Amino acid sequence: MGRYIPDQIIDEIAARADIVDVVQSYIPSLQHAGSRWKACCPFHQEKTPSFIVNPTSNTFHCFGCGKGGNVFTFVMMIENLQFPDAAQMLARKYNVIIPEPEHRHSGKKDKEAAEAAYNLRERVFLLHEKLAAWYRANLVNGSAAKAAEYFKTRRMDPVFAERFMIGAAPDLWDGMIQWAKREGFTIEEMKEARLVSESRQTPGKFFDFFRNRLIFPIWNEQGRVVGFSARQIDPEQGGGKYVNSSESVIFKKSRILYGLNFARQEIAKKGFAVICEGQMDVIAMHSAGCANAVAAQGTAFGNEQAMILHRHTENITLALDSDSAGVNAILKDAAILLPLGFTLKVARFPGGKDPDELLKNAGAEAVRKAVEDAEDFFAFLLARESENQDLAQPAVKTRIAEKLLKFIMLPESEVARDSYIQWLAAKLGLEAKAMLAEVRRISAKEARKNRFQHGAHERRKPEAESTAPPPDTLPESVANPLLAKALAELLEVILSDSDAADFVKAELPPEMLDNGPFAVAVETVIQSRMNDEWEDAPAVIARRLIGCEFDCGPLSAVLAAEPRKHSRSYCAKTAGDCLKRIRILFVEKQLRELKKNFAATPPGAERNELLKKTVELTRALNALNHPRLREKATSGKRYLLPDDTATTDAAATD
Ligand code: UTP
Ligand code: MN
Repeated sequence: MGRYIPDQIIDEIAARADIVDVVQSYIPSLQHAGSRWKACCPFHQEKTPSFIVNPTSNTFHCFGCGKGGNVFTFVMMIENLQFPDAAQMLARKYNVIIPEPEHRHSGKKDKEAAEAAYNLRERVFLLHEKLAAWYRANLVNGSAAKAAEYFKTRRMDPVFAERFMIGAAPDLWDGMIQWAKREGFTIEEMKEARLVSESRQTPGKFFDFFRNRLIFPIWNEQGRVVGFSARQIDPEQGGGKYVNSSESVIFKKSRILYGLNFARQEIAKKGFAVICEGQMDVIAMHSAGCANAVAAQGTAFGNEQAMILHRHTENITLALDSDSAGVNAILKDAAILLPLGFTLKVARFPGGKDPDELLKNAGAEAVRKAVEDAEDFFAFLLARESENQDLAQPAVKTRIAEKLLKFIMLPESEVARDSYIQWLAAKLGLEAKAMLAEVRRISAKEARKNRFQHGAHERRKPEAESTAPPPDTLPESVANPLLAKALAELLEVILSDSDAADFVKAELPPEMLDNGPFAVAVETVIQSRMNDEWEDAPAVIARRLIGCEFDCGPLSAVLAAEPRKHSRSYCAKTAGDCLKRIRILFVEKQLRELKKNFAATPPGAERNELLKKTVELTRALNALNHPRLREKATSGKRYLLPDDTATTDAAATD
């Protein structure tokens, strides 16, 4: 738990962080549903909401994909952060101050290493934030004259130049390095931030990564600068039109949509997002009043970006360049977006090659109109395919139908597919029946191939990489589904019936509870009974599992479920039944371990001892499985726990 952020600080964050508030900041569509809140799950693709937030226990759970946890887990999953970073993020949001590292811990090596990595990351963030301001100042105060001159030709609205913090890197080899040193940053930190390059001729000598360029800071969704994109100001200058930050501890390209931090609210308000190709286009869109625009930065729009956008809207208008690369990008994006359930429109820019040019050439109204007049993706595709074609020819019709059907088959919704088939049939003057036959001909296999080629098959892949430890280190209550199930059932009854909780308190040896989520939860209920705060148990459980390294999804399902009122006899019976199963599984596990040791031990006294224990445990197991043998086996309930094994799995309570 707590790692190197003190527990009381974690508690403080947990107490202040409102899970509804936090989740809503990522999923604006989160809605009240009785005592809880509901939305479509951000972690998998779904049409009907099964993602539940329970403010009482401060937990969330998706009944569709099984993901769940507390406010920290949520931030970890959605931001793909480790626990300390998620905690730090929440701390900042809720104004909890995390004390300086020197005072925080006793100074264990690994803690120090983690602390150092963590601080370095924060330094990299800070460097980016300050640097964005410095670049901005360079552009405004004239210390990057050439860039300023070029910038004038772009005719950007000053309000938006300020909002998007357009800046300039001076025409120097180490202007940034000198500035950063004055600000107290080390070369190590600049290297980590990917802001310097090392000289090949003179290793150890560094120069600025961005030189003599117009600078666009790149923000993450939370509005922190994580990188830069830098445009050349002179076509003769080397290094390509745009140079972008390399990936770093804070920058993962595939997860960034440029402008999303400024666009989220407007996307929610307008009910759709506009996707452009470049930074200049996003800024043009925002200046023209289309503040729901974001960019994938280049033509590659990936699955991860699609999943991020999916949290905000299911409706997308593609506003890509009019050149052939732009059109190809439309098809590529469609292959990614349609299977995810997005509705797609395509905007055209007859007066320019992209939104930025259209704004310059034709004004804001023309840009707004281009977005308003965007046509349905399938209509766009049909128009494109029918261009200069003789639709009277059956072979032409068939070819066009085939091409469109490949895309029509992508949405998961049958309703959507059917209505597009009807539409296409009418457009081509074909029978819908014949089209359906065609659909069957393009077999499911081929559709899968199509998805595969476009990478859309990955759409169910969860965003956050699993941080689960390898299986052999898992506690039994996580590794063994039977034990997890028994504990889950037990938890449900002891949360709903205090007598059952008392019964378990008396009958369940603490040694049988490990540090898996369900075991910790059961143990917490028992403790809460002792402390006379049983009613608060769900909230206490949620707080105790903060930073838990195991999957808390199944547990959050139990916590998020509407409390059920069971009869007392049901609770008593279920509690007894679960206890028995837990005991049997516990003994079985000990037996497995004994047998393993036995096989690895050479003949002798030690081995004999193991044999004796094995016999004892086997008899105990028989007694549990066949209650009538119980008295004969031994007496008292401790027979399950030979002394030397009693503590091996003791619950890690704190
Ligand atoms: P474009 O070449 O369409 O640039 O690339 P643009 O947005 O019209 O830019 P201006 O108007 O000429 O300044 C679109 C996006 O692709 C990425 C950038 O994010 C750019 O905004 N790109 C482009 C690169 O990353 N590197 C490049 O060399 C070119
Ligand atoms: Mn452009």
